[in-house]
Amino acid sequence: MDTSQKLCSSISIATEERRRRKKVKMRGKDKHESETPHVLIFPLPAQGHVNSMLLLAELLAISDVHVTFLNTHHIHHRLLQFAGNIEARHPTLGFKTFADGVAQDHPRFGGDMNEFFNHVKFQGSLKLRELCSDHSGKPRITCIIADGMFGDISSDIGDELGIPIIHFRTASACSFWSFFSVPVLLQSNELPIRGEEDMDRVITKIPGMENLIRCRDLPSLCRGTHDGKFSLDTVVFQTHQSLRAQALISNTFEDLEGSVLSQIRNRFPKLYALGPLHAHLSYRKASKTPSEEEPPPSFTNSLYDVDRTCIRWLDAQPPKSVIYVSFGSVAIITRDQLMEIWYGLVNSKKRFLWVFRPNLVAEQEAKDLPLELVEGTKQRGCTVGWAPQQEVLGHAAVGGFMTHSGWNSTLEGVVAGVPMLCWPNFGDQQINSRYVSEVWKMGLDMKDLCDRKVVEKMVNDLMEERREEFEKSTQAMATLAKKSVREGGSSCSDLDSLIEYLRSIC
Ligand code: UDX
Repeated sequence: MDTSQKLCSSISIATEERRRRKKVKMRGKDKHESETPHVLIFPLPAQGHVNSMLLLAELLAISDVHVTFLNTHHIHHRLLQFAGNIEARHPTLGFKTFADGVAQDHPRFGGDMNEFFNHVKFQGSLKLRELCSDHSGKPRITCIIADGMFGDISSDIGDELGIPIIHFRTASACSFWSFFSVPVLLQSNELPIRGEEDMDRVITKIPGMENLIRCRDLPSLCRGTHDGKFSLDTVVFQTHQSLRAQALISNTFEDLEGSVLSQIRNRFPKLYALGPLHAHLSYRKASKTPSEEEPPPSFTNSLYDVDRTCIRWLDAQPPKSVIYVSFGSVAIITRDQLMEIWYGLVNSKKRFLWVFRPNLVAEQEAKDLPLELVEGTKQRGCTVGWAPQQEVLGHAAVGGFMTHSGWNSTLEGVVAGVPMLCWPNFGDQQINSRYVSEVWKMGLDMKDLCDRKVVEKMVNDLMEERREEFEKSTQAMATLAKKSVREGGSSCSDLDSLIEYLRSIC
């Protein structure tokens, strides 16, 4: 071989070698990319849903999963305004937004829920399809975790594009199971409810809940009225759509709802119970931080302007002397109900901190309030438009929680170990309050009563007469809640299994 032949041959060997190395590198890259799960999370645009789904998004992001959180412009704007720069929380947590299709000043879920829900479903599905079909951005979306209320559209898009779907049920497992069981109740004539006199009739056909639930404890939609809220058909339909999902996520834990979870697993074998998500996220963040470093910041997912003046007020109150009163972000009460609760609180002579959302009362506020209410509130009360709820529940001065039994509030009360006085308003809240009082023995259920004498008595029972009894069971459950999210706990193992599953499907 002459020199030029040798040169050509060595060039071609070098080229071949470069090609081979590039191929190996590309194979490595493909392998690496295909191993990176990219989850798209799509919540219903309301405080309770966005809160828990954003908690899940963060939990996945700190576990090295790429997450895209799909939000309406409206909610995203409120988060940026009141929850800080959410876009900077984690490098692997990104946000995409879409217009919800209603006017800027529309009340959204404060108005006709069905109408607004349909707008969001339509606009959201367009954006979901666009994001899932876009292969230019890397890594591509490998799984959709959709709010269970978007069961049908997410499953349709998943089927069409071949992307696995997981449904996240943001409310309690007991409410999910009762909605799922509605067709059985209709077939066995346990539904419909036939008027007021029927409300104490016991429901016997929900597997695992036999003889525990009365008609008045079923989700409020079973009462046949829906006052602009979702219809029973819509919720039952969406609940059954979860049978099309590859897996289910629930914000609960085994020690709290184990018996219901085992019933659900008969129909949904791949079920991950990851709750309480707020405690889970705090624990995982803290355990990833070296002990000599500052604890990681805990973010709020608030859509409202938090008024922290109540913390100063609480600092000045004796331990466990205050009942914290909040009815969540959606419930609207009548002026009569407002007066009964207010009188009950003032007459109980207990100190109270009340979240008085600007849109809490349906009718215009009366100008002249009775003097005894004004005086009683001045002496022993504090009101704010929106409170830092988790911090309030963890404050030493708080000894009770009067709540609408929304699922986030219930879990926050459980983790803080604060006994609850439940006054459920709608949706899942009726069954949650039944479990709080009858199954977990963590408080009292006022249910359909709203009378100043009842409020006064129940506040005193909770804060004084039966305080020790409720404290004992609430604190025991708080311990179990914290155990469930630690190493070896049920929610911790379920999160590890979920992450493993997300890696296996990409
Ligand atoms: C709604 C339904 O009411 C509820 O039943 C369902 O489970 C979820 O959707 P919402 O009314 O907002 O939710 O109640 P809840 O689930 O309790 O969520 C309220 C959230 O707002 C909680 O995380 C709570 O900490 C927060 N909050 C509430 C505040 O941060 N400050 C407040 O002053 C009041």
